[in-house]
Amino acid sequence: MSPNNGYAPGLEGVVAAETELSHVDGLKGELIIAGFPLARLAANATFEETVFLLWNGRLPTQPELANLKQALAALRPLPPATLNLLREAAEARTTPMDALRMAAATLDLGLDTTDHQTTAKTIVARVATIVASYHRLRQGAEPIAPDPALGHAANFLTMLTGEPPSDARVRGLETYLNTVVDHSLNASTFAARVIVATQTDLVSAIVGAIGALKGPLHGGAPGPALETVFEIGTADRAETVLQAKLDAGERLMGFGHRVYKVRDPRAEVLGAAAEQMFLADGDMGLYELAKSVEATAVRLLAKHKPGRNLQTNVEFYTALLLHGLGLPTDLFTPTFAVGRTAGWLAHCFEQMKYGRLIRPQSRYTGVMDREWTPLAKR
Ligand code: ACO
Repeated sequence: MSPNNGYAPGLEGVVAAETELSHVDGLKGELIIAGFPLARLAANATFEETVFLLWNGRLPTQPELANLKQALAALRPLPPATLNLLREAAEARTTPMDALRMAAATLDLGLDTTDHQTTAKTIVARVATIVASYHRLRQGAEPIAPDPALGHAANFLTMLTGEPPSDARVRGLETYLNTVVDHSLNASTFAARVIVATQTDLVSAIVGAIGALKGPLHGGAPGPALETVFEIGTADRAETVLQAKLDAGERLMGFGHRVYKVRDPRAEVLGAAAEQMFLADGDMGLYELAKSVEATAVRLLAKHKPGRNLQTNVEFYTALLLHGLGLPTDLFTPTFAVGRTAGWLAHCFEQMKYGRLIRPQSRYTGVMDREWTPLAKR
């Protein structure tokens, strides 16, 4: 029993699940997705290949991949009730994450949720459609119909912008979605596992996970790292601006991590993806500026907190990559959800297969044996 008599606030250090889906080694800076080092998987796989891998434990054959792509594409259109809700959410100026959470809750309308495979494919297909459709609706434009000839990433970009994306942009988004698809027992994944462990349905688990992801301590800090890069503007101002922030007691956004004590491997993969994308189809000046801001920030943080090893985290290059794809900052977290949904569902499948009802205990710290005072005497 721990010194705190079994109480672990935040469940730190508690192993609450065994998983074959992903492994995080914060000291080595390693992220393994279903056996693949992140860099090997993320830059090579299409998102559909990663979905198949997580749900089946192996890469798909060509016919299996073609079947999954076709099934997801066919499930993309939203039911009228979901679209109507999104229209009302846009009128009420709801944030994209809240709109996604509300709309995701409608996804089991008319669906046989005891068919877990079809339900999971429907959720993955339609979470992307919800995010893209809502983006259009809140701009006063009509949603763009999904194109069944396109893969998941290319279709998402087309539905956002109305334009066919370049190959470089599609590759950039595939790499991003693969990179964020799973990350061991983070808060939203744990929430999904807790919910599905009660033997409820998958839609309920995903709605709960989206709610958890929305919080600023998880996925909900919208692009502050990018704002710092824009505030700096030119590389020669990086040191002055960053040092002023540190002197004022501020944290540099996009640096430091609870688990990773070396450079976040996702920063490595997304930095390389951003470089390729910006080289082929983007603003290399912004990429160069971000590189220079990163180097200055890491140098200043080493002086500011010696021995802490504060390194670049996933947020820094996420912001750069998604901005390069033309996404506004408030679509960063919903787009994270587009990728992570497949990981949440994979964890739900694991939990349903091996898991027990998750029911920890609490320690009562209140008073005992109170006397009852009648209402008239209070
Ligand atoms: N800039 C300046 N100082 C920092 C930073 C930073 N980015 N990160 C940590 N520190 C300092 C802390 O102030 C603390 O100093 P202290 O011991 O004198 O109080 C010390 O380094 C250790 O920091 P902790 O708060 O213990 O680190 P923790 O593991 O709790 O926090 C966190 C990790 C929240 C990510 C933190 O590094 C941070 O706030 N970073 C900036 C925000 C950010 O980039 N968030 C996205 C994280 S990625 C993700 O979660 C998906």
